[in-house]
Amino acid sequence: MSTATSTALIILAAGQGSRMLSDLPKVLHKVAGAPLLWHAMRAGAALEPARQIVVTGHGGEEVAASAMAYDASAEIVTQSEQLGTGHAVAQAKDLLADFDGDVIVLYGDTPFISPETLACMAKARRSHDIVVLGFEAADPGRYGRLVMQGVTLQKIVEFKDASEAERTITLCNSGVIAAEAKTLFALLEKVSNDNASGEYYLTDVPGLGAAEGLTATAVTCDEAETLGVNTRAQLAEAEAAFQARTRAQMLEDGVTLTAPDTVHFAFDTYVGRDAIIEPNVVFGPGTTIETGATIRAFSHVEGAHVSRGSIVGPYARLRPGAELAEDSRVGNFCEVKNAEIGERAKVNHLSYIGDAEIGARANIGAGTITCNYDGVFKHRTVVGRDAFIGSNTMLVAPVSVGAEAMTGSGSVITQDVEAEALALGRAKQVTKPGLAARLMERLRTLKANQKSAKQEGKV
Ligand code: UD1
Ligand code: MG
Repeated sequence: MSTATSTALIILAAGQGSRMLSDLPKVLHKVAGAPLLWHAMRAGAALEPARQIVVTGHGGEEVAASAMAYDASAEIVTQSEQLGTGHAVAQAKDLLADFDGDVIVLYGDTPFISPETLACMAKARRSHDIVVLGFEAADPGRYGRLVMQGVTLQKIVEFKDASEAERTITLCNSGVIAAEAKTLFALLEKVSNDNASGEYYLTDVPGLGAAEGLTATAVTCDEAETLGVNTRAQLAEAEAAFQARTRAQMLEDGVTLTAPDTVHFAFDTYVGRDAIIEPNVVFGPGTTIETGATIRAFSHVEGAHVSRGSIVGPYARLRPGAELAEDSRVGNFCEVKNAEIGERAKVNHLSYIGDAEIGARANIGAGTITCNYDGVFKHRTVVGRDAFIGSNTMLVAPVSVGAEAMTGSGSVITQDVEAEALALGRAKQVTKPGLAARLMERLRTLKANQKSAKQEGKV
């Protein structure tokens, strides 16, 4: 058995978030393409928790589904009435009845607690029974206040219950608290709702612990880490904070961002060293950009993998399942979805490539479309290596074009084309000498006659 204390994470996510004015539970609002709850779960994951419990209430089913989608090992407990943060944590008591390690409580609406901060808390737990995460607040407002004596946390007092003197304290409670599971649940039994809000406060735990001779202390972090989301304005602030931090990190990691402030990353965007990201590029979730790839201006990239040396855009859209092999090209006004683009293959202009496999070095002519959807089912298109697809070819799937085969421009390809063949699927051209000039003459005469009839008032 490892000597390190095992940790159970409890994430509070039962609140309604009434100030969001939303039908969506607050913790499911997104920052960088991921629900706030996922950010909190990711923060907690830094502790490698043995157990992960999400307390749900408002929108419980949706919140539970989201938690499980992020991590199938998450356990859900329901708090059917929101009677306070202490009551919320107590809901996990039965699940953790046999659990021997530490509990750490995080809020589902507080997305940015850093791994370093949680590591500091874990370290402080070695010398104190209870550890609370505090911060020096620029505007302490209605936060709970940490009443300290030296390094000892005597108690936490909620703003509503605080004396004038206590309200002058600027060291505030972030909400994150760590203690041994058994200690925490025993103290929670003693928490009452005899206070200004009529709620069971989690924050009563350090004070109750002190009365029993337990020790408590506070670890502090930057206020930015404890940013909680209660309003749409704070959601936008959280987004801006995430983006600013990620851009700075990318630059530090050796990624070129021509105009950093215009690039938007998702919570899990990976960009390799020496990649170049031009202005106004937006990343959705699930993207990997390898070393030395270039994403040119105004591209939207989501769920895609772009390999070394590939160039995407300007104005390209990569959707989930776009797999670009090394040195491939996807150019302006092209959309690629659930498709592999082979090594050094080119899809350079105005194309839609969906549910397809494009072989190495194949050239997909301008305006080529894979007609993948028949209104009910999706079908696959396979283009072999070194094939040449003429401009404006409609590839009506399911269909394949063999290696080194060609299609004529403007073809509608409905049957498989064997390797090295040329397929033409278009109407044959008919040319009528002089007909254009005669036609135009007739139309111009017709217009002139109409004009003079009008002037004579006949029409
Ligand atoms: C809480 C702290 C306060 C701290 C502040 C930091 C308490 C009593 N007060 O106050 O000291 O400065 O956070 O932001 O803990 N929740 C539930 N079930 C409940 C009540 C709350 O799941 O019954 C969840 C909420 O959804 C939210 C979190 O717990 O994610 C905090 O609850 P909230 O009501 O926002 O507490 P505050 O009044 O902000
Ligand atoms: Mg709050």
